[in-house]
Amino acid sequence: MNPIDPVRDPSTQGPVGAAPGPAARPEVESLQAYSAPLEGRRGLLRLDFNENTVGPSPRVVAAIRAIPADHYAIYPEYDGLRQAVIASLQATPGGGGALQAAAGAPGTITATAQASASATAATTSAATASATATATAADTATATAAAKATASATTTGSTPAEPASAAALQPEQIGLFNGVDAAIHAVFQAYGGPGDRLLTTTPTFGYYTPCARMQGMAIEAIPYRLPDFSFPLEEIRAALLGPAPTGTEAWTPPRLLLLCNPNNPTGTRLAPERILELAAAAPQTLVVVDELYEAFTGDSVLPLLLGAAGGARGSDANPSASASGPAVAVAAAASQASPGPAGADPFAAVPNLLVLRSLSKTAGIAGLRIGFAIGAAAVIDRISRVTGPYDINSFAVTAAHAALADQAYVDAYVAEVLRARDWLVEQLRRAGVRHHVAGGNYLLLWPDRDPAAVDQELRAAGILVRSMAGKPLIDGSLRVSLGTREQMERFWTTYRGLSGAGG
Ligand SMILES: Cc1ncc(COP(=O)(O)O)c(C=O)c1O
Repeated sequence: MNPIDPVRDPSTQGPVGAAPGPAARPEVESLQAYSAPLEGRRGLLRLDFNENTVGPSPRVVAAIRAIPADHYAIYPEYDGLRQAVIASLQATPGGGGALQAAAGAPGTITATAQASASATAATTSAATASATATATAADTATATAAAKATASATTTGSTPAEPASAAALQPEQIGLFNGVDAAIHAVFQAYGGPGDRLLTTTPTFGYYTPCARMQGMAIEAIPYRLPDFSFPLEEIRAALLGPAPTGTEAWTPPRLLLLCNPNNPTGTRLAPERILELAAAAPQTLVVVDELYEAFTGDSVLPLLLGAAGGARGSDANPSASASGPAVAVAAAASQASPGPAGADPFAAVPNLLVLRSLSKTAGIAGLRIGFAIGAAAVIDRISRVTGPYDINSFAVTAAHAALADQAYVDAYVAEVLRARDWLVEQLRRAGVRHHVAGGNYLLLWPDRDPAAVDQELRAAGILVRSMAGKPLIDGSLRVSLGTREQMERFWTTYRGLSGAGG
């Protein structure tokens, strides 16, 4: 059921109508099955689903090709994958080395990439999409092989890493899923009952709502704040914590709080400290933080929980990071989430917090489907009870091992995207095109004329973007995923050439 997107929330499409055969649960009868809206995307410039635009590391391609055919006959084996996820998270809990590279740290990636572009192109079909980014990864892969744990530092030429984390994740704190979509689905199946409250924001990732509807939950979606789509922290806090108890009033806390950080599609960033405060203040609520795009700005709760050197190292200054007034008691509770001794349980103080990560958007294996949930062992156990024993296939497992072992590739890709973003934003600014950019590998822009027509004309020119038509607060905008500089140049040249689009 992927990719679901804010623009295609199937639960808003109404009932299918009377159909033969026994009726399903009433909640299911009122949903409409999702049908992939955009077949035939191959060969086009895909700036519509925030995917990696160049493909995976050559190591992933090699690992998949090396799977012997007789292994296809064997059910998948997951041994060691949780440990590999932990090794990767402990080494680079948030942001990796890409952010320093993008900021122009010594030993930046572009020069290396250009030197080895042709060599790489011979080793991977993905390289044809973008010689620059792929070549970068191939070159830096050598460094990764030498020291996986220090991969990001090696890539950017920064100081070699000291042990990044103090607290230690355990394998039972890692849930493996068939993409984060499946993790989200499992969360709702395990936790959402009829009438239970889902608290979230709007507009946000479109799959939360149908999952809640399937369970018959009551949805409370708080709008981002205009004009800059900032996070509605006070409203969320009030809805999460409720009125001061009077002794007579019955008040039920939300069952689930879903936070997409940075938010898709507005890019809104909430400081990880604020998320820890919210979780610590609401122990009855499962607080799920969807960190699919954290790599592009470093907004992750994991560095704080893991006690990584320098806290949320690598993150851009997050506008919401400074302490906020009324949260003093809450902050005190959350600060206990900081691990004490080495090896401590990172989720000891916030067992109601669940973090979602995926290899779709950065590592370039969206088509293989694999994602992770990281949290208290008891929560991982509960959400794993509602999945099948072999939901993740062997190709995804093999690809995940190879991708996790090549953090340098991801760092190189992210750094390239961030540089391309800066370039495109500068063009938009100079041309006076209304746009909004914050976290994530995407931005919103508002064409001067009918966005649906501009969308279609871009498509005719071989470029896919997402129309945000009908979405609260951002109706009339197009969401443009960010890729390499070369791809952004192609997008911008085409966009400017459309008469009357603006720019
Ligand atoms: C915010 C968010 N969460 C989850 C997903 C799904 O990720 P995956 O490909 O791991 O299922 C997406 C995909 O677009 C997303 O944007």
